Amino acid sequence: MCGIVGYIGKRNSLPIIVDGLKRLEYRGYDSAGVAIINAASEIKLFKKAGKIKEIETQIPVDVFDGNVGIGHTRWATHGEPNDNNAHPHTDMHNKFYLVHNGIIENYKTLKKKLSSEGYIFHTDTDTEILVNLISYNYINHNKNFEVAVRLSLCEVDGTYGIACLCVEDPGKIIVARKGSPLMFGVGQDEIIVSSDASAIIAHTKNVIYLEDGEYAVLRRNGIKLKTIDDEDIHREVQQIEYDLEQIEKSGYDHFMLKEICEQPDIIQNTYRGRIKFETGEVKLGGLASIKDKIFNAKRVIITACGTAWHAGLVGEYMLETYCRIPTEVEYASEFRYRNPIIRQDDVVILISQSGETADTLAAMREAKKHGATTLGFVNVVGSTIAREVDAGTYIHAGPEIGVASTKAFTCQLMSLVLLTMMIAKEKGTISEDEFKKIGAEIELLPYKMKQLIDKKDYFKYIAEEFKDAKNFLYLGRGLNFPVALEGALKLKEISYIHAEGYPAAEMKHGPIALIDENMPVVFIATKDGTYDKVISNIEEVRARKGKIITIATEDDDNIADYSDYVLRVPKTHDMLQPIINSIPLQFLSYYIATARGCNVDQPRNLAKSVTVE
Ligand code: G6P
Repeated sequence: MCGIVGYIGKRNSLPIIVDGLKRLEYRGYDSAGVAIINAASEIKLFKKAGKIKEIETQIPVDVFDGNVGIGHTRWATHGEPNDNNAHPHTDMHNKFYLVHNGIIENYKTLKKKLSSEGYIFHTDTDTEILVNLISYNYINHNKNFEVAVRLSLCEVDGTYGIACLCVEDPGKIIVARKGSPLMFGVGQDEIIVSSDASAIIAHTKNVIYLEDGEYAVLRRNGIKLKTIDDEDIHREVQQIEYDLEQIEKSGYDHFMLKEICEQPDIIQNTYRGRIKFETGEVKLGGLASIKDKIFNAKRVIITACGTAWHAGLVGEYMLETYCRIPTEVEYASEFRYRNPIIRQDDVVILISQSGETADTLAAMREAKKHGATTLGFVNVVGSTIAREVDAGTYIHAGPEIGVASTKAFTCQLMSLVLLTMMIAKEKGTISEDEFKKIGAEIELLPYKMKQLIDKKDYFKYIAEEFKDAKNFLYLGRGLNFPVALEGALKLKEISYIHAEGYPAAEMKHGPIALIDENMPVVFIATKDGTYDKVISNIEEVRARKGKIITIATEDDDNIADYSDYVLRVPKTHDMLQPIINSIPLQFLSYYIATARGCNVDQPRNLAKSVTVE
């Protein structure tokens, strides 16, 4: 996590860095800071706990006037989020200024070594150890900035994306990466460093991605790219594929609201050009090279974190039901630590919005180590997972800025639908008729989703009724069980109300004890094979006076008799119903959180991209 920005060029760097930090705040927002080399070649440092918007007004712009600088927005790992622990960090001699995203795992050993050399530390961070190590190596290696950074990184265990300035070598920024994303935009006589493209896009679309184990020495009009083992690298410039407009709020109060409302349009990007509606035939170009492996897979393992893991659970259901392939879903954070059995004929699917989640990335590398075929369902183009998997398909949700994932979830579900259809067609496990039905329903999906967006005022009204609830239960069965999990996750993430998702029938084995007249229970009760069973579960809650909110299809005439509130949704094919059902749940959590005055785009303690374990 944490966001890094840097600028070297002809323009005043401060506004560019501050604007970049605002765009990267989704990566962490405990504290922020900047270090700028001014016209007198002095480095000026300003850092503080709080959000960049509050901090920027306190920076004395007149003395922070220079063409080279770095900035950071933090999500604390080592040391509490206060002014002192904010980045940039500097060494004991105030010669180096460093911003860092990641964790230096051997910082205690390095600290001991440096302490014995007389180094003194003032913060609780691992980053301060690294910047002092650079200082130490600088003094011991002919005061060569580049050599000092490179040798220091060779001593480090753990992960980092860094940008570093040196007072005695002010015409350079040195950046490096291992495990934390870093890229730079190449403009006319200027370079903009960033953790992702969002801080660069306003200036240029030409970017170079750093790979793990690489560093770059950036000058105003020159780039030197090397491995930390000192080998030269040549890398082509690539193009960012989206526009500035796509990362703006476009008149919405929050990014989350914008991202919920744009789903009917965005979902079309996921399937456009990939499906023939009339026949249900699907072509996923990115998977062509491993098609045989997918069709012959003995087992599929889906691994992911958070919302993406919930999408994986829906995928499991679809692949088993419609393709008859045994499928397992694993939390990426657990997967590699339990010595998993991975075979060469397994297909391991990694689902990740950011393509940078540390645990998902590590799970992918574990799968590759065992010779399995890896397949990525990723949103961010050019991200690490997207680049390292054997094959993949982009979900094309576009930039998702709100920390609570919404449109990426529905696009992940749509991608899994396409994969299921592609495999089922090849294996002949669904009838032609069924294919056509699914194809026709996909074509109608944006209209059906739009109907729900148009009902947002009603969802807001329901949300107002429940804004003071202390707990929530979300229940569903089959394909809708993961939807219940996702609904509960959305609510707790942004409103801080305790919420649990559960398989509706499992409620009897525990959560039923929590039910009384103060407990809102959201049932996902759209008509499918488990509908009658869900109605029985609703009865069980009613008997204990729980408040019942149901998600039900428009044609369900009886559901109102069982519910305190009904959120009506259009009926679609079972495989697509989770996409539809997710939308009222997203609105419910959004409007409850805003009614409680919560900052929905930047909920406390969370970050959008979790690049630490
Ligand atoms: C964080 C985000 C979640 C996301 C999860 C996995 O926890 O807050 O919204 O689902 O990471 O992220 P990924 O980028 O791998 O989908």
